[in-house]
Amino acid sequence: MDAAISDDGTHALTASFDNSVGYWALGGEVVSWLEGHRAAVKTVAFIDDRRAASGGDDFAITLWDLASGTQTARLEGHKGQVAGLAVSPDGSVLASASWDGSVGLWSLPGGKPIALMTGHGGVVNDVAFSADGTQLYSASADGTIRVWRVAEAVETRQLVHHGFGVNKLLVGDGWLAYGAVDGGTRIVETESAEEIADLTLDRRPILALAAAPDSSEIAVGDGEGFVMTVDTRSWKISGDYKAAGKGPVWALAYTADGKSLLAGGIDDAGYIWPAHNRLDAPIMATKERGFLRDPGEMSNGERQFRRKCSICHSLTDDGARRAGPHLGGLFGRDAGSVEGYSYSQTVSALDFEWSATTIDRLFDLGPDHFIPGSKMPMQRIVKPEDRADLIAFLKDNT
Ligand code: HEC
Repeated sequence: MDAAISDDGTHALTASFDNSVGYWALGGEVVSWLEGHRAAVKTVAFIDDRRAASGGDDFAITLWDLASGTQTARLEGHKGQVAGLAVSPDGSVLASASWDGSVGLWSLPGGKPIALMTGHGGVVNDVAFSADGTQLYSASADGTIRVWRVAEAVETRQLVHHGFGVNKLLVGDGWLAYGAVDGGTRIVETESAEEIADLTLDRRPILALAAAPDSSEIAVGDGEGFVMTVDTRSWKISGDYKAAGKGPVWALAYTADGKSLLAGGIDDAGYIWPAHNRLDAPIMATKERGFLRDPGEMSNGERQFRRKCSICHSLTDDGARRAGPHLGGLFGRDAGSVEGYSYSQTVSALDFEWSATTIDRLFDLGPDHFIPGSKMPMQRIVKPEDRADLIAFLKDNT
């Protein structure tokens, strides 16, 4: 869901739907999985080469010591998902954008709360500091970008009124780039608020923005799976191509030399490819990703599983990382019994076996009714034949 590369260019962080942050040596090897979030991780940032911060759907911000792979603090206060993070240039303040409509300021290294600033009329999606660290910019679904004075934690002005929700922003030397739900991709002057360039194409929504370390280029990722690069001296489009895999591009980060991009989307891998021209790039994970197969070729049961379950569960104990436990040997298996998986208290305490009957009831009633308190999201499969097909598929494949 998000990616970052360290200033020294040696390591990367990835934020994942499987509740973890991946800490990678660039080149492919994962150094550690940072575990602590209780839901999907939405955003990651390096504080310096040894420390990182992440925010997620569990409303929390976590600070990490990268050398040991351990959590050093859990910052609580937001009442909604944490969608964006930014570290001030001097590393003394962490800013957070939350779907509770507020912008948080926290002091580093400890993470003590400074302020939760309100004013936006909608969820806040992203934050970025000015180069001198005195101003903070925030982007919201209320269609505006606002400016806050960090020292006093007050809003000073509304810089942009785009109308449609603004998803991402990026601040350079005297300019600000933003990307919006309607596909709007614009550059404005941070002082005058005047438009420098309108790079909007016919693709929406904009989901990712990244700047090369020397700010000479920015990259824009969208919901239709394209990456566009833009030269920041001329504000001309320098590259535009369809990314690998299917689905949206929602994570982008430049490597230290500015020549390559680390990108991620619904596919459970991170890719590194040349910033301008995607060739057959190395993949940071090597497992075959079955849920990208053509649904037309699948049985109804498999389609049910791929669409509704596979993002969180693998069919067998294949070591793949998912938010839920693997389903290998599911029929006849005691509920809450996968070794090493950290279940909710509710599911650990269950005293029955999974069978065609219990799985049918799980999705007839929905997990929230059948096992209230479980971490599995609310979802029902209403049609009895869809449940029967899914169960038959699971029987054959687990
Ligand atoms: C968004 C993620 C997500 C989706 C989608 C999801 N699950 Fe789950 N599932 C979980 C989590 C997390 C748990 C662990 C629940 C807990 O500990 O409270 C779980 C637990 C289970 C269990 C109990 C396993 C055990 O070891 O006791 C079964 C069975 C299950 N899921 C089946 C399914 C099926 C079938 C689907 C698709 C129709 C599905 N799940 C969709 C996240 C998900």
